Amino acid sequence: MKSVTNPIGLLIALLIHANATAQNRFVPNYDESAIPAYELPSALITNEGAAVTTGAMWEESRRPEVLEFFESEVYGRSPAGCEIQHQIVSETRDAINGKAIRREVDVTMFTGSRGTTMRLLIYTPRSSSNVPVFIGLNFQGNHTIDTANDISITKNWIRNRGEIKNNQATESTRGTAAGARWPIETIIDRGYGLVTIYYGDIDPDFEDGFQNGIHPQFDQQMASVPQGERWGSIAAWAYGLSRAVDYLEQDDAIDATRVAVIGHSRLGKTSLWAGATDPRFKLVISNNSGCGGAALSRRAVGETVERINTSFPHWFCDNHLKYNKNENACPVDQHMLLGLIAPRAVYVASATGDRWADPRGEFLSCVHADPIYRLLGTSGMGGSTPPVEFPTAESPVNSGRVGYHLRTGKHDVTDYDWAQYLDFADRHVK
Ligand code: GCU
Repeated sequence: MKSVTNPIGLLIALLIHANATAQNRFVPNYDESAIPAYELPSALITNEGAAVTTGAMWEESRRPEVLEFFESEVYGRSPAGCEIQHQIVSETRDAINGKAIRREVDVTMFTGSRGTTMRLLIYTPRSSSNVPVFIGLNFQGNHTIDTANDISITKNWIRNRGEIKNNQATESTRGTAAGARWPIETIIDRGYGLVTIYYGDIDPDFEDGFQNGIHPQFDQQMASVPQGERWGSIAAWAYGLSRAVDYLEQDDAIDATRVAVIGHSRLGKTSLWAGATDPRFKLVISNNSGCGGAALSRRAVGETVERINTSFPHWFCDNHLKYNKNENACPVDQHMLLGLIAPRAVYVASATGDRWADPRGEFLSCVHADPIYRLLGTSGMGGSTPPVEFPTAESPVNSGRVGYHLRTGKHDVTDYDWAQYLDFADRHVK
């Protein structure tokens, strides 16, 4: 606003400003009858118009086309894997009431002499080796997932929130995500390990033209990739997850052929993209991932493509901007993202109070991914045909390879969610 000295002028200026703000204010749609007309792109028709009728046709022709679209139009193209080196930072043999071995392992991802280090916090049951694991990125630092007082605190940029003021993690946030978000003891009791990484170790979550985090070390490789197709932050976080699996393959305590990737919200979008791009994730869990995750973009319920591209311009590739208020033009929708994971197991979870993430749109993605799963010889969502009714809360649809539940409550990860994931993992990973 310009500076205005007279009070009437000031009042008018304020009114104009308030009006402009109101006009720009995003009003989400939650009304099913107001959803714009849309037709989903067909997962099982090739770009040339041929029907995909066999698993081999999907694998050889259609899947590469779909993957290509997600790379060029949604998340951006990531570089090929890189050299990693690891270093054990700490080891505690009596963690979690003596049930687990807890380690911190630094994994550095190198290109030439440049590297980005992420710190893996790893729990494995003390009584067994070669265990299946859950791996998931965390929002606020490894020290937040456990109340133990000796887990290192990241020095990397952290979002200001509550006690965090100068984008630096503090002692006061130790253990703040312990419990339902990360039920370590339950996971260990069920015979799994847990691996987590602070996502900001890979790429700090703010827009800075990709000057920090892992992006700049790949600038040379990216020079030949058109600007609009370069990888955003979701792709970078997924890339870090894959490099973490590169390390797990060298870790005797863990069976890297049985890895489940889990993520909440933006990190659920990330787990889906990680699962789509790396077949070593045998189970992919999306907890309340919403727009740009499991929810169908064309429904434009709650958060929309335009809205997410405006609030978080660094998450996707620049080409994704083409679909602002123009979802129908996108050659893919998010059911095809789930399809890229097929025939591996996928689980999508929504919450009744998380309308921003469009629970019904997340469910419909599963329904529309079902034919891809069935074509590949699996039971899809289970039953002889995919479900037609949106399930009520606490009635999981989980008998097939594509699981879904709606839970009562808000945008979060709860004991209920984990109970479903562990049962599903027992069937598909263990
Ligand atoms: C915002 C954003 C969502 C995202 C969520 C989160 O609400 O709009 O797309 O999933 O943050 O990551 O917590």
